[in-house]
Amino acid sequence: MEIKKIGVIGAGQMGNGIAQVAAVAGYEVIMADLSGPATQKGMATIGKSLSKLLAKERISADLRDATLSRLSTTTSIEDAAQCDLVIEAVVESAAVKQQVFQTLDKAAAAHTILASNTSSISITKIGGFTDRADKVVGMHFMNPVPIMKLVELIRGLATSDETYMAVKTASERMGKTTVLAQDYPGFIVNRVLMPMINEAAYTLMEGVGSVEDIDIAMKLGTNQPMGPLTLADFIGLDTCLAIMEVLHVNLGDSKYRPCPLLRKYVDAGWLGRKSGRGFYSYEA
Ligand code: CAA
Ligand code: NAD
Repeated sequence: MEIKKIGVIGAGQMGNGIAQVAAVAGYEVIMADLSGPATQKGMATIGKSLSKLLAKERISADLRDATLSRLSTTTSIEDAAQCDLVIEAVVESAAVKQQVFQTLDKAAAAHTILASNTSSISITKIGGFTDRADKVVGMHFMNPVPIMKLVELIRGLATSDETYMAVKTASERMGKTTVLAQDYPGFIVNRVLMPMINEAAYTLMEGVGSVEDIDIAMKLGTNQPMGPLTLADFIGLDTCLAIMEVLHVNLGDSKYRPCPLLRKYVDAGWLGRKSGRGFYSYEA
């Protein structure tokens, strides 16, 4: 089955990035979110990213124009389901994903593959929300999607070989390298990355170092492009907390307990860059 049209659910930082790389690769793309302003914000981010790539001569003006002409938006999940592949990138909540996947399963054609960009939630569980678990798969893009080279593919217990091969081919067409992760909480990337970020929050809470010193230490001392607290703000502290909760509950080991300071920030609405404040302040 050849994938020609891709639906993306969620126009937030991941959804608009996924829609962008899919349209650059030549797919017709329809991107859905809850409201018109949310889809418009997603399209504006895509416009800015394409301008950056054009300025750096990584894409031509013709490719930018063709990319934009291949993109459309909707506030209806049912509309976005009329595709060969749908990639879900809504908030990291099993309850919200359940609602989205049930709607997609009812509205989509029988051949349609339903992928989730979840950071940590079981693909087997998400497959169980539908009557097509063989066509449900994890496609875990990294942030920022236009720049990061990896897509982590996750097979649920029932994911078929055909589904896996179809999303591997599509990811490669989008210029990405894939790895295969088995379906355990956090898969590969967040099983390793998120405990480091959580530990950085403990290091701050216990007064071992200041925000700046923790980040400088890890940037200059371990050659990471961003310190862990900057990266947490970049990912979103709500997403980081949700991932730690999945690791903690599903692996049952106290070493994954979310840092209380991280929880406190999320309770305060300090979600990182997207809310203007996290470990750092981004207010103008
Ligand atoms: N679109 C287009 N271009 C972009 C871009 C975007 N969205 N974001 C950055 N760029 C470009 C910049 O224009 C710049 O281009 P040049 O090198 O040609 O100048 C280049 O990318 C580097 O950007 P900056 O100079 O602005 O800043 P930087 O050097 O600090 O790089 C970064 C930015 C690529 C984000 C880098 O800091 C980095 O790699 N950070 C770590 C990112 C990371 O770890 N991501 C994974 C998070 S975990 C995850 O995603 C999984 C999960 O489930 C939570
Ligand atoms: P975000 O908060 O930037 O965007 C989420 C979007 O989903 C919002 O625009 C919201 O309006 C929309 N949404 C919520 N419920 C919806 C619904 N029922 N129907 C349609 N749209 C809905 O979040 P994000 O950072 O883009 O994360 C999205 C997903 O990608 C999460 O599962 C997250 O774990 C995963 N992820 C995040 C990162 C990251 O670095 N932020 C990296 C990889 C994967």
